[in-house]
Amino acid sequence: MFTIRSESPKDFTSIREVHLRAFEGEGEANLVEAVRASDNFVPELSLVAVTDTDEVVGHILFSIVGIETDTGMVPTLALAPMAVLPEYQHQGIGSALVREGLRRAAELGFEHVVVLGHPNFYPKFGFVPSTAKGIQSPFQVPEEVFMVHEIQAGSLDSIRGTVKYPPAFDHV
Ligand SMILES: CC(C)(COP(=O)(O)OP(=O)(O)OC[C@H]1O[C@@H](n2cnc3c(N)ncnc32)[C@H](O)[C@@H]1OP(=O)(O)O)[C@@H](O)C(=O)NCCC(=O)NCCS
Repeated sequence: MFTIRSESPKDFTSIREVHLRAFEGEGEANLVEAVRASDNFVPELSLVAVTDTDEVVGHILFSIVGIETDTGMVPTLALAPMAVLPEYQHQGIGSALVREGLRRAAELGFEHVVVLGHPNFYPKFGFVPSTAKGIQSPFQVPEEVFMVHEIQAGSLDSIRGTVKYPPAFDHV
């Protein structure tokens, strides 16, 4: 059994550990800390999955990035990074973190989210390749791995542009 709640300062070390163990290298663990220290951080959207003894076994972060359009920068959310401890993977924890994050993002009034990730994981939550919605990736990656999700249906209809990540993302 696990529950999902917002992070608190006592979780910072465990969150770092989750990313260090789920990913190769320190990039994602450092990204979480860089975003947390930046203006792009949304405290309500840094979520942990915890066991019934309050051990952190998963973490997801949504933060504010921009879509650069002809008429200026449109704020959106980026889902990154997210990780579940290897021994807890494939039990639905990652999916629960995405669903709860999207629910809270909707409550906070966010209209859309972008993600760079596994093309067979995110579509089940409503993500589609960003190019299908007229949004370009800033990275040289296959089209299907850069995805967007309209939290509010139709919210990207009049937006065309390229996603721009803030400096916290430069070292990942
Ligand atoms: C991706 C991740 C967060 C998913 O967490 P989880 O708790 O295992 O997710 P769920 O149990 O809800 O869903 C599992 C599904 O995720 C997908 N998935 C997980 N890892 C994947 C990978 N490396 N490649 C492709 N699909 C993957 C599969 O569809 C898997 O389905 P399965 O259990 O039937 O095999 C977790 O595997 C992880 O931490 N991976 C390492 C770090 C990482 O890659 N983070 C995401 C970057 S986009």
